[in-house]
Amino acid sequence: MKSIQANNYLVHFNQNAYEALNNHLKENKYSNLFIIVDDKTNEYCLSKLLPQIETDLNIEIIEFESGEENKNIETCIQIWNVLTELGADRKSLVINLGGGVVTDLGGFVASTFKRGVDFINIPTTLLSMVDASVGGKTGVDLGNLKNQIGVINVPKMVLIDTEYLQTLSQSEMRSGLAEMLKHGLIYDVAYWEQFLDIKSIDYNGLDELIYRSVEIKNDIVIQDPTEKNIRKALNFGHTLGHAIESYFLESETKTTLLHGEAIAIGMILESYISLQKDLITATEYSEIKTAIKSIYDDVIIEENDIDPILELLIHDKKNEYGLIQFALIEGIGKIKINQSVENKLILEAFQDYKS
Ligand SMILES: NC(=O)c1ccc[n+]([C@@H]2O[C@H](COP(=O)([O-])OP(=O)(O)OC[C@H]3O[C@@H](n4cnc5c(N)ncnc54)[C@H](O)[C@@H]3O)[C@@H](O)[C@H]2O)c1
Ligand SMILES: [Zn+2]
Repeated sequence: MKSIQANNYLVHFNQNAYEALNNHLKENKYSNLFIIVDDKTNEYCLSKLLPQIETDLNIEIIEFESGEENKNIETCIQIWNVLTELGADRKSLVINLGGGVVTDLGGFVASTFKRGVDFINIPTTLLSMVDASVGGKTGVDLGNLKNQIGVINVPKMVLIDTEYLQTLSQSEMRSGLAEMLKHGLIYDVAYWEQFLDIKSIDYNGLDELIYRSVEIKNDIVIQDPTEKNIRKALNFGHTLGHAIESYFLESETKTTLLHGEAIAIGMILESYISLQKDLITATEYSEIKTAIKSIYDDVIIEENDIDPILELLIHDKKNEYGLIQFALIEGIGKIKINQSVENKLILEAFQDYKS
């Protein structure tokens, strides 16, 4: 598979990826190599990576505990300390091996350590392959404010080896799949249609789909790196999806939803809004709703959940000047950004989801 040119770095796939890594190690005089992992990627992924690396450099493994709750500045401080104790310097290379938590946090740690050392990301979840692999966003959470602290800084390269997915749970796979469905809905109707018969997708097919998803996200980011216009398309399903995700996270009685599970609901709701604004047809809406509901279990959203979800929506960091702006779809494969939506329509969308 051909490497994809992102802004100032390449995304390499499968076996090409390790060749690119080894060439990079040959061409650069690094002093030592640090691999940041969480406990799961230490267990499941590191043994696949290490035999692929050809180098005489000293390699140190730095592990932290997995989970979004550890994506914070305390974990960064611990890692900065370990790097210091182990003698990391300006010429050290950091490899982040893990899901979005590891690549976001590790990218931030590397970008700030001694004012920035080189880093390479090796995403190991579907979500981090198709979403976090491009765009250059790094960072950590501040309390319960997601990604509040961070910098935009690109890795030297991103290596996507889909073999890592073999140990990933089905629910984490579904979570990443939501972003792929989104890429089809906002940008490429033919791509979307490939998911309509999801059961027929095998591992080879999945590789191709991942590749196309990275290409789509990259196309969008390159056109609009600073999120002034088309990059807002990537928020499709996320305006309501984020609010639902936060509500379920904070609630004492609800089970937490994975990011993609919340985004799946968000995409149905925002497609309904697109329908009501005459941007998509009833047939298109029904296709979207049926396809998403065939992959994700129905989530029970009760009447008294909706108001607090709307409260959270108002606090969403993406709102500018207090206005809630949606990225809606205009037909499948096209986007219409900066759409304001009255509350009544949002309530109706929830009623329709429940029906
Ligand atoms: N930078 C960006 O542009 C961007 C985009 C999307 C999401 N994100 C961030 O990514 C994070 C979510 O990413 P995620 O879903 O990958 O979460 P994650 O990193 O928490 O990974 C999910 C779980 O899977 C485990 N895991 C990872 N790889 C595995 C493997 N190969 N086999 C078995 N288990 C494995 C992890 O240890 C974790 O328990 C969020 O913090 C989000 O903010 C960033
Ligand atoms: Zn997302």
